[in-house]
Amino acid sequence: MENINDYLCKYKGYVFARGETTAEYIDSLQHFEIRDSDIFLVTYPKSGTIWAQNIISLICQDDFKETKYANNLELMPWLEYREGRPDYSLRPSPRLFATHLTPTLMPPGLKNKKAKIVYVIRNPKDNAASYFHFSHVWAKLEKPKSFEDFLQQYLSGNVGGSSWFDHVREWYSKKDQYNILFLRYEDMIMDLRTAVEKICRFFGKSLDDAAISHVVEKATFKNMKQDPKANYSFIPEDLLLQQQFMRKGTIGDWKNLFTVAQSEMFDQIYNERMKNIPLDFIWDLDSKTN
Ligand code: A3P
Repeated sequence: MENINDYLCKYKGYVFARGETTAEYIDSLQHFEIRDSDIFLVTYPKSGTIWAQNIISLICQDDFKETKYANNLELMPWLEYREGRPDYSLRPSPRLFATHLTPTLMPPGLKNKKAKIVYVIRNPKDNAASYFHFSHVWAKLEKPKSFEDFLQQYLSGNVGGSSWFDHVREWYSKKDQYNILFLRYEDMIMDLRTAVEKICRFFGKSLDDAAISHVVEKATFKNMKQDPKANYSFIPEDLLLQQQFMRKGTIGDWKNLFTVAQSEMFDQIYNERMKNIPLDFIWDLDSKTN
């Protein structure tokens, strides 16, 4: 891995947090055996990963009656970070994984289209705003001097997870190679029940109305923030200051950070880099478009 600075390193074109994984382990994913029952949650960082992780865990909870996990992170660990856990090939089925990796680094066996991938995507202005705030509370990230400074890093892909634009482009343009469900964070905010139903259909799970209501209820921002298995309060304080994985959970908070000039510059870059990608986003709750 090539070090970029004290916090980041690069391997095969992808930017990782330093010291969290190794080139050997990332390479080993090329031989990672996929099971038909595997479920992967793929996101660019700060797109609602732990939210979707909680929803998927709740939908699949009957599958885990026999094996008890301490929290959602243990139930659905990060593919790219083994963090002292036993070999993932020893895990009982069904296995759930979360990952921020790009298609090139993912196990090639996913292309047999049997295992399932849920990809959650969030409008990049809110994503950048969330990432900026997170940089102040996650000890392993560089504290940005200013939002302008962070925005430049974000736009150049010099952040963990690399470039939002590349991540979304790559996954979206390769979607036909995978068994993948795309969900927008904003749709989840506006109609969580429909999002839960979509995931259930994709997984082939027929939850009754009461079971769906239970998932929705447990996954609301307010309730999830109080759920010690889901809110990441189990992360040690020296790594995560306060309980900041769950900050605001809204659409349009970027307006409290971006200047008009920054927003216009961002739009211009967005339009250039997302050309030919037919995705649209809800940028704020009033206009529901940009
Ligand atoms: P904000 O910082 O905008 O509040 P990730 O899990 O990928 O790191 O994403 C974190 C973002 O998802 C944070 O956004 C967090 O508040 C939001 N989030 C987490 N749980 C949520 C929930 N139940 N409902 C809505 N947003 C949620």
